[in-house]
Parts: sequence; structure tokens; C-alpha cells
Amino acid sequence: MPKRKHLVAPSVLSADFAHLHDDIVMVNQSEADWFHIDVMDGVFVPNISFGFPVLASIAHYAKKPLDVHLMIVEPQKYIKQFKEAGADNITVHYEACTHLHRTVHAIRELGCTAGVAINPSTPVSHLYEIIDDVDLVLIMSVNPGFGGQKFIEATYRKIRELRAMAADRNADLLIEVDGGVSNHNALALLKAGADVLVAGNAVFSAKNPIHTIAEMKRISPDLISA
Ligand code: DX5
Ligand code: ZN
Repeated sequence: MPKRKHLVAPSVLSADFAHLHDDIVMVNQSEADWFHIDVMDGVFVPNISFGFPVLASIAHYAKKPLDVHLMIVEPQKYIKQFKEAGADNITVHYEACTHLHRTVHAIRELGCTAGVAINPSTPVSHLYEIIDDVDLVLIMSVNPGFGGQKFIEATYRKIRELRAMAADRNADLLIEVDGGVSNHNALALLKAGADVLVAGNAVFSAKNPIHTIAEMKRISPDLISA
């Protein structure tokens, strides 16, 4: 069976906020698949990023789906507003949701793709009871809160473990990896079983972001091993 093509999602957190429109146009023109949008509340993570008005402005110009990663406590209170601001995918953190099952179903009822994210210290096994109810699992490969951090190597094992769990359960889900992803580790991540690569610093600090995105799209475990 041919492996499905992986997706690339540049993280807007690393964009130049004073020239955000230019960076949105760049992503539109690139081979990127999604815009990755990091929302931080200063409570769940030790940083504050942006909220609804900025998301709505991005949505106004973006020609690709908005993949919204909520690093906030009590995300269930705000999912409708995120949908209204333009979110296509809404990912909430396992660690921030007491009633995760209810929350992911509420996201799906709004017509959005429902994702759950896990921190580096959260084992994949904790997803056992929710795996049938989500479309996407985001594995954090850094501690959430900041762009430009060092990739945590244990992520490869977590991806493989989740891929095996999903196969075992016949669950059709996308595995997204977020944090410290670049063209240096993209191949190994895809080989481990990742479907979506989020890249902030690697894209926006590159001399030629469009080229970097194109390279990330071209990397293929099938071609290398053939
Ligand atoms: C971190 C965010 C990431 C971040 C990734 O909390 O969830 O999406 O922007 O940035 P890089 O690719 O620079 O690690
Ligand atoms: Zn993110």
C-alpha cells in the first residue's frame, strides 16, 4: 500500500509579526499544507502568544487550512470562538482537559478536525481511551511554550508506539510532530511514522523559506529506502 504523502505546517509563532501579511503570502505561495497557529495563555505554558483577532486576521488572507494548537487551560470554553475566528483543525492538550472525550466531540460537532496534543512527559499509552475519537494526535517534541527549542530524541519512540497503537486499533489518525523539526530530522520522523511536520524556526529563519518548505515536502522515506 503506498504511504500517504506527509503534510508540512509552518508555525506562524516564528513569523515576523510586524510583517505578518508577507509571511502569510509566503506560506500561501509555498508547498506548505497548513498554517500552524500556536495559542498560549500564560497559564498552561509560561508564554503568551495571541488570540482571536490575530487568528481572524490570518484567516482572512490564508488560503490553506488553519491548524490551531491550543496551549491553554479550559480549552472547551473557547472552541466555538476559535472555529468562528477561522480554525479548521483544533488541537487541545491532554494535560489541560479533564473531560477530553466531551471536548473532542464538541470540536467535531463544530465541523472541525479534532486533535489531542501530548507533552513530552505524557506517555502515548494515556491516549488509549481517546484514540478512536480523534482525527489527529500532536506529539510535542519540545516542552510547549516557545519556538526554537532543541528537539527531544525520545519523540521517535513515541511516534512508533502511537503508530503501532493506531494500527492495532484500526484508527485512522494523523500523527503530527511539533517542536525542533527541521530538514535534518524530517526523514527520521517520517520513517518513525509521522504524517504532519510542524516547523517554526526552521522555516522562518531560513534564507529561503519557500525552498526550505519545498525540501521538507520532497523528503520521502520511500525514495531513500528504495
Ligand atoms: C511550541 C509550539 C511550536 C513552535 C515550534 O510550543 O507549539 O509550534 O512554534 O517552533 P520550532 O519549530 O521553532 O520548534
Ligand atoms: Zn504548536
